[in-house]
Amino acid sequence: MPIKKVMVIGAGQMGSGIAQVCAQSGYEVLLNDVNEDALKKGMQHIENRLTRSVDKERIREQEKNGALARLKSTTDMQNVKGCDMTIEAIVENMDVKANVFRQLDKYAPEHAILATNTSSLPITEIAAMTNRAEQVIGMHFMNPVPVMKLVEVIRGLQTSDATHEAVADMAKNLSKTAVEVNDYPGFAANRILMPMINEAIFALHEGVASVEDIDTVMKLGMNHPMGPLTLADFIGLDTCLYIMEVLHDGFGDSKYRPCPLLRKYVNAGWYGKKSGRGFYQYN
Ligand code: CAA
Ligand code: NAD
Repeated sequence: MPIKKVMVIGAGQMGSGIAQVCAQSGYEVLLNDVNEDALKKGMQHIENRLTRSVDKERIREQEKNGALARLKSTTDMQNVKGCDMTIEAIVENMDVKANVFRQLDKYAPEHAILATNTSSLPITEIAAMTNRAEQVIGMHFMNPVPVMKLVEVIRGLQTSDATHEAVADMAKNLSKTAVEVNDYPGFAANRILMPMINEAIFALHEGVASVEDIDTVMKLGMNHPMGPLTLADFIGLDTCLYIMEVLHDGFGDSKYRPCPLLRKYVNAGWYGKKSGRGFYQYN
């Protein structure tokens, strides 16, 4: 069955970006969040981004209006009834995701594909929370979603060829390049990226160099668009810690142990840009 209507669960930085790209690509979109303020903020963020794109003459006013007309919001997940697909983008925590997948399995139409934007958690385990493991798949977008071209598509043990094909086609419709990745902790992107970020935090922790200088080394020395500490703030330090924990638990290898400084910042509520404080101070 063709995918026409999509529910995006979680209206944070990733969910709002995914909802925007889907609406701009012609899908009917229902954006969901448990937190009403977060939902309003997510919807506002999308409108601001589209307005900016019109101002920059990247899209026409008509395209912005079309995307906004296709986009609705709800705090009630049971409204998933008419959707052909769901894309979950909530906190990187297995217990919370498991609960959402149990509910989605209960309320979503039988044919609906249930995708997760998890950065690192096992797709096979998430799929096991449902009675439709063959229709569960990882669809890992990169941040910021409207800008970054990559989507990692991750098959769980039981994901069907039909589900994989539908999601790969959808990625193409969203003008993204899909790569197929196997279900290992951190997949490919975060298995490579996150140990680098964690190592940058260890370098800071051990007094090798200052925050600014560590970032300058990687920006000017390696031509990265952002230094690793700026990137960690941008991703969210809570998300970075969750991913390191998944790598550490999943591989049982001490090379993936999260830096104590990362844990300390998260315990302090310093989540990076989204909370106003991380390695840098915002606003
Ligand atoms: N949402 C949507 N669009 C955004 C955006 C956002 N949050 N931030 C920037 N953009 C867009 C803007 O449209 C902007 O274009 P305009 O100025 O025409 O509006 C364009 O990006 C360039 O932005 P800027 O000029 O402000 O800044 P920049 O040149 O430094 O680019 C960047 C910003 C694209 C984010 C760039 O710094 C970059 O590529 N950073 C690295 C991003 C990265 O590594 N992402 C992967 C993170 S890891 C991940 O996603 C996986 C995971 O599971 C954790
Ligand atoms: P975020 O903190 O910006 O947003 C998460 C949103 O989920 C919040 O608005 C929260 O209210 C909402 N939420 C929490 N529980 C919910 C529930 N039960 N039902 C509905 N909404 C709920 O987080 P984010 O950075 O957007 O990350 C979301 C997911 O995307 C995580 O799995 C993360 O690992 C993954 N991801 C993040 C990045 C990144 O760079 N931040 C990149 C790729 C993938």
